Amino acid sequence: MHDLVGITVFLFVFCFVVFFMPEMGGYFLEHANFQEADALKTPEHVPPVWYYTPFYSMLRAVTVPLFGIDAKFWGLIVMFGAIAILFVVPWLDRSPVKSIRYKGWYSRIALLAFTVAFIILGVLGTQSVSPGRTLLAQAMTVVYFGFFFLMPWYTAKEQTFPEPARVTGRWITWKQIIITLGLLAALVILPLKAVGAESNVELDHVEVNIEDQASLQNGFKYYMNYCVACHSLGYARYERTANDLGIPTDLVLDNLIFDDHQIGDLMDNAMSTENAKNWFGATPPDLTLIGRVRSPEWLYTYLRSFYADESRPYGVNNKVFPNVGMPNVMHELQGDIVCAGEHCELEHEAGTGSMTPEQFDKTVADVVNFLYYVAEPIRATREYIGFFVLGFLAILFVFVTLLNREYWKGIH
Ligand code: HEC
Repeated sequence: MHDLVGITVFLFVFCFVVFFMPEMGGYFLEHANFQEADALKTPEHVPPVWYYTPFYSMLRAVTVPLFGIDAKFWGLIVMFGAIAILFVVPWLDRSPVKSIRYKGWYSRIALLAFTVAFIILGVLGTQSVSPGRTLLAQAMTVVYFGFFFLMPWYTAKEQTFPEPARVTGRWITWKQIIITLGLLAALVILPLKAVGAESNVELDHVEVNIEDQASLQNGFKYYMNYCVACHSLGYARYERTANDLGIPTDLVLDNLIFDDHQIGDLMDNAMSTENAKNWFGATPPDLTLIGRVRSPEWLYTYLRSFYADESRPYGVNNKVFPNVGMPNVMHELQGDIVCAGEHCELEHEAGTGSMTPEQFDKTVADVVNFLYYVAEPIRATREYIGFFVLGFLAILFVFVTLLNREYWKGIH
């Protein structure tokens, strides 16, 4: 019974993740889950799951060969050493007290440094390497091991607080929690900022709203007109999409299906992979799940970042996806885009294209909104159910807290 409060809080957090952010930015459900497996294509960067990344960072941080043995071997030793060292902590800790509550300032500062190093290593492990990041990972690896190697010294040397005869009080105060978290955040974020963000292309912001049926309908229309010839939506059906978007099915049949598909069919296309490879040098991927592989910002920026480049087979290149195999299919709408200056600023040639830049941006945003919807048609329902589940848990929390208080009444 006395665990009910804890269980309720846990369920609240758990259900929040399940119903509102099951992918957790690609850390809980990795993007690779939504990509078709391709044995012939090696991803440029294969990060391990997030809870291994601190150790993976340490593996990559070792870059110097020693005694004629490859650096990778020493990296491996360091990585396993980082885990193995946890097992000898009881012998490293020479403090007369056990709990961090009664330990002195050296231990606290060491623990803070250790936490900072661990989080930074974790973040770095999810990113590709650069000289700055490697340097930071090396420094943080030293801090990580410093925490353990110096432990016999600082735990013996520091002034501890007297341990009470019975375990009561001396809880951490709100002020201490806030200061610690603030300090932690600053110490983690500043060094990571200093070594630079992962992507060097700035993505433009786009609002996605799966409740906005007009936008989804428009996106669907442009998708069927400009994309479906190459990219199938092979895991979604016309009928379900029409119903979700509030379009009468006969309108879809008459205006949006250009081949002999029936309303209950999957939105696949007849292009063979063989042909596609010959035409574009790459097969156009199925886009049903692209909204979960790529962020809406990425899709929005990508579709607007084609520019004229005579050296490419189709005369266009893309700033977000260099040397892309896809032609600029919406060129007639967008008009001519040139890349100017040494930073390749994209500039629209005034007077070209059947849409103004604002109209074009809106159209692309609608296509992105549609792709975001079709990647998970159930999203709106999931969030709707989640709302009730969390509401129930919130009410339950009030009751279990009252119950708990009743049980512990008079016990000190
Ligand atoms: C003429 C054929 C063709 C048409 C039409 C076309 N694409 Fe593509 N698309 C491709 C090819 C080929 C690739 C693969 C590019 C590569 O890997 O180099 C691609 C790649 C993509 C990607 C990147 C996928 C990834 O790797 O993450 C997206 C997103 C995309 N297309 C969206 C669209 C959208 C949206 C439309 C409609 C506005 C569209 N495409 C129309 C041929 C096409």
